Amino acid sequence: MTQTEATTIFEEEILNGLKARNKFLSSKYFYDARGDELFQQIMKLDEYYLTRKEHEIFTTHKEAILQSIYDGETFRIIELGAGDGSKTKILLKHFLKQGIDFTYTPVDISGNVLEILETNLKAEMPDLKMESFQGDYFDALAQISTNPEKDVVFFLGSTIGNFTEEEAIGFMSKLRGFLKPSDMLFLGVDLKKDPSIILNAYNDHEGVTKEFNLNLLDRINDELEANFERDQFQHYPYYNPHTGECRSYLISKVEQEVVVAGEKIHFRAWEAIFMEISKKYDAVQLEELAEKSGFKPLNGFHDQESWFADILWEKEK
Ligand SMILES: C[S@@+](CC[C@H](N)C(=O)[O-])C[C@H]1O[C@@H](n2cnc3c(N)ncnc32)[C@H](O)[C@@H]1O
Repeated sequence: MTQTEATTIFEEEILNGLKARNKFLSSKYFYDARGDELFQQIMKLDEYYLTRKEHEIFTTHKEAILQSIYDGETFRIIELGAGDGSKTKILLKHFLKQGIDFTYTPVDISGNVLEILETNLKAEMPDLKMESFQGDYFDALAQISTNPEKDVVFFLGSTIGNFTEEEAIGFMSKLRGFLKPSDMLFLGVDLKKDPSIILNAYNDHEGVTKEFNLNLLDRINDELEANFERDQFQHYPYYNPHTGECRSYLISKVEQEVVVAGEKIHFRAWEAIFMEISKKYDAVQLEELAEKSGFKPLNGFHDQESWFADILWEKEK
């Protein structure tokens, strides 16, 4: 996709969301250069336990993970939404140290974060075979999925949580369509726990998550000649322990009109823009997700408190 095509799609999707009856913006657009930087800050926050827990799982279980994936044949890891790869590199380093022959293919919509990832991994692991791909998950898979070797698709960091249950089933089923019978999926999922711990992860006291959300308004101002005033919006996350969904909103504090790409968008006082969903699962829901999207669970790894899980699935035959 050319830059002009990407800009047109960005404009269409942003306007579509802002003109909807219940306004929304897609969280995939959080990740411009500033958004990448803010997400890296979020991952270091005390309240954002997700990164710490997945880091613990990889550090503790790296050999068992390798044993579950590796059958003696060379394979390829495709990582969807790789980000800065700070946790994945624990596994990559371990696999290399054990003399395993594999290729690493990180995919991310953000060219900026991929460049950071490539630079770091090349410096830290000069022997790593790496072919990165910038773009949307399925555009990438469509272009790289013809590979005779086994593919293990990594989808970590609870990024699956950015979908509702129904969307996740649709996403996983579509992903399954790109896999060969021996291929595997390694999925990082956040689990249900004390609701206040979950809510705090999206409402940190330093306000970095708030900034991460407001940054999308700044991005729209810069790229679509818009005039959002960030002070006129309030960050509001809300966790529903029933559905396991933590939903973040930006709420217009006043009645106002904002111009975006030449179009006037009207906000009533206290009208919300839905920004992001971060869904939490329990064991039963995960089994259902696997079954409904055509996967068979093979193995699972947890942190000590069972707050987070990295699970390995194969394509149901
Ligand atoms: C929540 S972050 C997780 C990053 C990393 N996997 C981790 O665990 O730290 C989500 C990542 O997915 C990327 N992303 C979001 N939507 C995407 C899409 N539709 N296609 C490709 N990458 C996407 C973002 O740029 C970001 O780097």
